[in-house]
Amino acid sequence: MDAATAVAEYGGSAQAVQYHYDVGRAFYQLWLDESLTYSCALWTHGEDDTLQLAQQRKIALHIEAARAASADSVLDIGCGWGGLLRQLSACGTGKRIVGLTLSVDQAAYVRSMKLPGAEIRLESWTHHTPSAPYDAIISVGALEHFAKPDDTIEKKVAMYRDFFRRCSDWLAPEGRMSLQTIAYGTMKREEASEFINTEIFPSADLPTLGEIVQAAEGVFEITTVWNDRLHYARTFAAWAENLRRRHDEAVAVVGEELTRRYERYLTQSSVGFMMGKIGLLRLALRLVSRKWSTLAKP
Ligand SMILES: C[S@@+](CC[C@H](N)C(=O)[O-])C[C@H]1O[C@@H](n2cnc3c(N)ncnc32)[C@H](O)[C@@H]1O
Repeated sequence: MDAATAVAEYGGSAQAVQYHYDVGRAFYQLWLDESLTYSCALWTHGEDDTLQLAQQRKIALHIEAARAASADSVLDIGCGWGGLLRQLSACGTGKRIVGLTLSVDQAAYVRSMKLPGAEIRLESWTHHTPSAPYDAIISVGALEHFAKPDDTIEKKVAMYRDFFRRCSDWLAPEGRMSLQTIAYGTMKREEASEFINTEIFPSADLPTLGEIVQAAEGVFEITTVWNDRLHYARTFAAWAENLRRRHDEAVAVVGEELTRRYERYLTQSSVGFMMGKIGLLRLALRLVSRKWSTLAKP
């Protein structure tokens, strides 16, 4: 499928997501870490840190923020190739774990792991109807796909609000949520890269922190916000270096043009985070729309 046919749908288009992720797992395996985590890592160990440990640490941060280790049921919206679900299932048995993705390859791959208690759905959050409430919801790197470049700001905020409202409805009373997304930083929407918008992530637009805050108002209390943009600069730099090192293998898998296109995207993104044009938000959220919330523990 080419970028032009990756048409828009409310809350994220399956075609647009498949255009990006179903390029082929063999390609992503060449430059992501072994867990195939495709989102910003958490680097804490200086020069000696490794991509794999930094990804595990990031996943642990979200599990902690959503209190998911002790939860009986957890929803992962945008589960990718299952790195978080696998780490979560190692936290204890008996959990109900539901992962949503729009990528055919990701769904098949995560199902093949046969994680105990896991249900992997090839489904958008806009079509999800849980069979029972969740104790925790985690979403890492999916919100970037929900809005379209030609949506009005009002439409974007209304859609993010719909997302938060649904998550709130799906959570048990003391449920928590942890969210990670790229957001506009100093760069304005009108200045967004034509190359990224057409050739890498067609039919997608980033949020701003202000839009997220507005959309969550009265539905979730935002208890913590981190802007870890330098962590994403380093993650993209690590991916770019991996891809450059395995250039010839990548060309054998997806061809010269796509390999060069990704080398450009990974390097350009690293610089964008470094300069602050784009930011990386990690947010911990607590429900506010229930009477008990004023009594909830910190
Ligand atoms: C950048 S990947 C991140 C995957 C994973 N969370 C990680 O950190 O590796 C984005 C994920 O969001 C999913 N996604 C995008 N739009 C979605 C939607 N509307 N509903 C459910 N999943 C969606 C994609 O299928 C993909 O799995």
